[in-house]
Amino acid sequence: MSHRLYIETVGCQMNMLDSEMVVADLRKRGYELTSDVKVADTILYNTCSVRAHAEDKIYSALGTLKLMKKRNPDKIIGVMGCMAQKDQQVIFKRAPYVDFIVGPGQLQQVPDLIDQARLGEEQQMAVGLGRREGSNDDIKRSHETFDPLRDPTMRPTPYQAYLRIQIGCDKFCTYCVVPNTRGPEQGRPPQQIVEEAKVLADQGCLEITLLGQTVNSYSYTDGQGRTTRMSDLLKMLHEVNGIKRIKFVTNYPRDMKQELLETIRDLPKISPYLHVPLQHGSNDMLKRMRRGYTVEEYREMMHLIWDTLPNAAVSSDFIVGFCGETDEEFQTCIDSVREFRFKNSFIFKYSEREGTKAESMLIDDVPYQVKQERNNALLAVQNEVSEAENIKFIGHAVDVLVEGPSKKADKLEQNGPLKQMVGRTHCDRIVVFDGNERQAGQILPVSIYETTPFTLFGAVVTQEAGPEVYAL
Ligand code: 5AD
Ligand code: SF4
Repeated sequence: MSHRLYIETVGCQMNMLDSEMVVADLRKRGYELTSDVKVADTILYNTCSVRAHAEDKIYSALGTLKLMKKRNPDKIIGVMGCMAQKDQQVIFKRAPYVDFIVGPGQLQQVPDLIDQARLGEEQQMAVGLGRREGSNDDIKRSHETFDPLRDPTMRPTPYQAYLRIQIGCDKFCTYCVVPNTRGPEQGRPPQQIVEEAKVLADQGCLEITLLGQTVNSYSYTDGQGRTTRMSDLLKMLHEVNGIKRIKFVTNYPRDMKQELLETIRDLPKISPYLHVPLQHGSNDMLKRMRRGYTVEEYREMMHLIWDTLPNAAVSSDFIVGFCGETDEEFQTCIDSVREFRFKNSFIFKYSEREGTKAESMLIDDVPYQVKQERNNALLAVQNEVSEAENIKFIGHAVDVLVEGPSKKADKLEQNGPLKQMVGRTHCDRIVVFDGNERQAGQILPVSIYETTPFTLFGAVVTQEAGPEVYAL
C-alpha cells in the first residue's frame, strides 16, 4: 500500500510553493495526498515565523497529535519551514514526538528524513542558511535541483503557478525574522527560471507569479560577469509561449526603478499590479524599522509609478503598534492610505520576533488592545479607499482570468449549468460573475455593474452587446 501524506501549510506564497515541491517529490515516490490527518501515515507542517500567531497555531496543531502518535508510533511527523529554522531544538522540546525538523533550504532532504524516521532513527534535524558558512554553493545547489519539481494539483488553480526567482533577504528590517530564517538574498539563474516557466506553460499554466522577498531587487551575475536584472528577466519570460500573465511579489520601494516600470508598461503580459509595502507613514517609524527610505522617497516612487503606469494597482503592507508608535505617528498611516490610494493593504499588528534587531534594541511598548484598535481603524480607511477605487470600474469591461466556481457557489451547491464564477483582472482585482465551469482557465471580458471594497461583480460581455469601455 502506498503512503498517505497529510500536509498543512501556513504563511506566505513562498511556503505554498515549498509545499508544492515537497508534495511533488513525495508523489514521485508513491505517496498519496489525504486531507484527513487521521488516515495519514506521514504528517508534515510547513511553518511560518513572521508573527507569533502563526507559530502558536502550529504548536497547538502539534499538541493535538500527541495522543495520536502515542497510539500509532508509526506515524511520521515532520516540521518544515521557517519555524524549523528559527526554533530548531525548541520544537523537539515542546513536541518530543516530532520525528524530524527541516529548514526551508533543506527541503530536498524530506524523503530521506521520512525514510530514516520510518527505520526507527533518532529525531533528526536538517537546518542551515549558508549565511555564516562562507559560500552559498549549498543553497544554490539545493535550489537548482529542487525547484523544477512541480505538482499541478497543489497549485492555487491549474492555470496559475508560483515561480521562485529569488531566495532570502538582505534588507534586515528591524522587526523581521525572514533574513534569519531564509538566509541571504540569492537570485536564481535566469535560464533556470525560463525553463521552469516553459514547463509550467506546457502543463497548461496561464499565469505565473514570480516570488521573492524583494523581487524588484532581483539580480544574477553569471560566470562571465553578465548581470541579469528584473527588467531583463521579465523580457525573457515574456517570450514564453502559453504564459498570458506575469505577476510578481514582493517589491522593495527603493529598488522600484524607471526601467522596470517602463518594461511593465511596454510588455502586455506583465500585470500592472505592484505590491510595494510602505509599512509605515512616519519617517521616524520607518527609521526605527530600518526600511531604508523616507515617506517623501516613497511618494516620489508613487509618482514614478503613476506617471509611467497610470492604470497600475498598488498594494501595501503596514505594521501597526511597532515599538514606540504614538497616536500621531499612527495617524500618518491613515494619511498615507488616503494619499496613495492603495488597491488593498495587508495590515499587521507588530509581533516581536526573537533574534531581530527590534527585539534586542527596542521596546515592544504598545499594548495589544491599542494595536488592535489601530489595526481596525486603518483597515476601515483602507476599505473606504478600496471601495472608492473599485466603484470607478462600474460600466467598464475588464479581462478576467477565470479561476473556477466561487467559494459561495460551492456552499450553495449550485448544481445547474449556471454557477457563480470567480477570477481576477490583470491588476489582480477579484471579479465574480454568473457563468459556468467550462469557463475556468479562459480569459473573458466581463462588464462590471456592482462593487464592494474587495470584489467587482459583472457579467460576461457577449458579442451582441457591442463595444465596451475597457479598463485594466
Ligand atoms: N510583526 C508584524 N508584522 C510583520 N511583518 C513582518 N514582520 C512582522 C512582525 N514582526 C509583516 C510586514 C511584511 C509582511 C509579510 O509581514 O508587513 O511586509
Ligand atoms: Fe523582511 Fe524587510 Fe526583507 Fe521584507 S525587506 S523580508 S520586511 S527584512
